[in-house]
Amino acid sequence: MKNKWAIVLGCSTGHGAAISKQLASEGMGIIGFHLDRGAIKKEAQELEKEIALMNGAKVKFWNENAADKEVMFKRMPEISDLVGSGQVKLLMHSIAFGSTTNFFEPTPVRQRQMDMTQHVMAHCLIYWTQALLEKKFLTNGSRIVGLTSEGSYKAMEGYGPVGVAKASLEAVVRQIGWELGKQGITANTIQAGITPTRALTKISEDWEKWVETTKERNPMKRVTTPEDVAGLVSLLMSDKADFVNCSTIFCDGGEHRSL
Ligand SMILES: NC(=O)c1ccc[n+]([C@@H]2O[C@H](COP(=O)([O-])OP(=O)(O)OC[C@H]3O[C@@H](n4cnc5c(N)ncnc54)[C@H](O)[C@@H]3O)[C@@H](O)[C@H]2O)c1
Repeated sequence: MKNKWAIVLGCSTGHGAAISKQLASEGMGIIGFHLDRGAIKKEAQELEKEIALMNGAKVKFWNENAADKEVMFKRMPEISDLVGSGQVKLLMHSIAFGSTTNFFEPTPVRQRQMDMTQHVMAHCLIYWTQALLEKKFLTNGSRIVGLTSEGSYKAMEGYGPVGVAKASLEAVVRQIGWELGKQGITANTIQAGITPTRALTKISEDWEKWVETTKERNPMKRVTTPEDVAGLVSLLMSDKADFVNCSTIFCDGGEHRSL
């Protein structure tokens, strides 16, 4: 993984953290964005140090809103210095953010909530891809990966805006792969099963019950872990995955096939 970099949007916990660690252990440089306060901010600093020990200090985290174009443009010169003549092998969207609510009750969802969720959870990936293409950091063999969920095609309590954003993310990724495939750049979404991360605890107060029913429902009788998803992302880094494009790949032990 010589001079190959992963830009992980949402790098501090859950899937993004596991992906960052996995790829760093394989020698890839990690550029990460997260948005945390308090104890989690400290955890992110520790993770950055841990990664530095793994990959020869090829790591830089920013605790900033990755969906803000001004942040993206402000950090681009530093990203350029880090990547140098190398390649952004992976642009990973692993941000969990958004309004976890229904459309009508108890309170009607506001346009601002819908727009923000859409932008942060889906559209910002378009602008990151544009900026990295312009810099010529995305080249033959680069991957763009987003994380989707069953909520992209199923209605769920409290998942209104995020469900819409997941369907949108899949469409964004499909279109990116369709437009950039001729350059050898591929884009795919991974559909993870229910994973007990911080994001899950914010979707529902009943998340622990949800985890238990998911274990029953899952053909493999357990929930997904961030390491399961990190393993799949690592597989996608292989040249053998060069022709996987515009797809949704399931990483859920078969959960979506089971009632
Ligand atoms: N947990 C699940 O069950 C599950 C299942 C399928 C898909 N997903 C998806 O996986 C992705 C990652 O979620 P997770 O479960 O690992 O959650 P998580 O809460 O552990 O991680 C979310 C990350 O996003 C970062 N973040 C939030 N807003 C940000 C912003 N504006 N700018 C930069 N960073 C920001 C946080 O700092 C953190 O690093 C999400 O897109 C989520 O929808 C999760």
